Amino acid sequence: MTNPFFKYKESGADADLRLSVLSSSFIPDSFPHRSEQIDQMVKILSSVMRNSPPSNLLLYGKSGTGKTSIAKKVSNLLKEAFPEKVKIIYINCQLNDSTYSVLVNAANSIISNEGEKIPLSGWTVERIYNELLRQIEKSGSFIVLILDEIDKLARKNDGDSLYIILKLTDDSTSSRVSFIGITNYTSFLETLDARVRSRLNQESIVFPSYNASQLRDILQERLSLTGLGNMVEESAISLCAAIGAREHGDARKAIDLMRISIEIGVRDFMQRIGEENVYKARDNYEMNVLRESINGLPLHSKILLLSAVVTQDQDRDHMITGEIYENYKKICDELSVQSLTSRRIGDLLSELDDQGLIITVTKSLGRYGRTRVITVPDHDDMMKKYLLEDEVLSTFKGIKIGKQHRLKMDPDDTRSQSVSEEELNDVLSSKED
Ligand SMILES: Nc1ncnc2c1ncn2[C@@H]1O[C@H](COP(=O)(O)OP(=O)(O)O)[C@@H](O)[C@H]1O
Ligand SMILES: [Mg+2]
Repeated sequence: MTNPFFKYKESGADADLRLSVLSSSFIPDSFPHRSEQIDQMVKILSSVMRNSPPSNLLLYGKSGTGKTSIAKKVSNLLKEAFPEKVKIIYINCQLNDSTYSVLVNAANSIISNEGEKIPLSGWTVERIYNELLRQIEKSGSFIVLILDEIDKLARKNDGDSLYIILKLTDDSTSSRVSFIGITNYTSFLETLDARVRSRLNQESIVFPSYNASQLRDILQERLSLTGLGNMVEESAISLCAAIGAREHGDARKAIDLMRISIEIGVRDFMQRIGEENVYKARDNYEMNVLRESINGLPLHSKILLLSAVVTQDQDRDHMITGEIYENYKKICDELSVQSLTSRRIGDLLSELDDQGLIITVTKSLGRYGRTRVITVPDHDDMMKKYLLEDEVLSTFKGIKIGKQHRLKMDPDDTRSQSVSEEELNDVLSSKED
């Protein structure tokens, strides 16, 4: 037989290479609709030319607005222009969210001698701090320390982590350390205490969300680099841009959708990429996001979500916390897992709500206080499938769901006294006023 893989060999490898231009790690040369932000950054950083350290700088805007790529691009250009004078340190605080790991990574990225590198554990923070200071003085360079996702660090130790790190500027005798903080949360500054805020926010640059027409320009430019541009229909580009724009003007999402659309098309040997590929890509994308967020949940959150899914399966009417908790305990029994208290479950439900995995609405029950009405959004069948991928949950066979008396949501309805004891406890413990 003719080898069925050959047809993949011809089209696949080449397309993969070209599609790497659409990967999230690719940093393009030019950034449409960001010249203002780039100019501002360049102006601030160019003070090294006059031998004065740049002001600390905060970049903020929603995710996918180009902050990380532009900070990396501009700092690389600075380094290219002044290779002897400047050292750039990039740290992602989502991955390094302690004083210790930020300082170790910062120090190790300027220590060139392998033998001198600091171990990833075992030193005191003070010792690393002093070593980093020593390395900074020794290098004689301007250090630009980029703290991406800085809000993750700011939440640690009541802001002390960030305070200690920012103090590097004061403590380096030649005062050659500057910071670029990056965050998706505009309100982040308000949560900082004054000493940290004033240090960090000497200058700030806002990255506004892109509109659909700006996203189309970005996509078009990026596509032209892949060499696959003429394969993609205008309407498909517009659709990716429109979806990205709806998602708070997110260039990452628009570009990801474009990449997945082309991948799907190439896999099916299509010559043209049209809107139908984009719709398919969007479904894939959303399922991947869902799967990742479910896989990342701790065990009890998974069991709780499973309980919500199977409870809703039985009855699409409003579910309440008490019911989900009852079924959660039954599932725990079935899986031989020790269940948590209802108070802890309340916290876990709030976390699931924050992640968009369930939707909670607080309803008043008149004199019984309040309760939370819960729904599982669409894709509950997929949720169940992903939940059962967990080793512990994979043995779940299904439980007998006992239907409880429902509380009447109308506060004036006297029949609302006919509540089950469980529900009443639940209501009372969640009573907020
Ligand atoms: N103006 C732009 N021009 C070209 N690509 C862009 C632009 N803005 C963002 N991107 C691309 O969108 C993706 C997300 O950008 P990123 O810098 O990671 O966003 P953020 O850090 O703000 O979440 C990256 O692939 C980036 O290259
Ligand atoms: Mg980023």
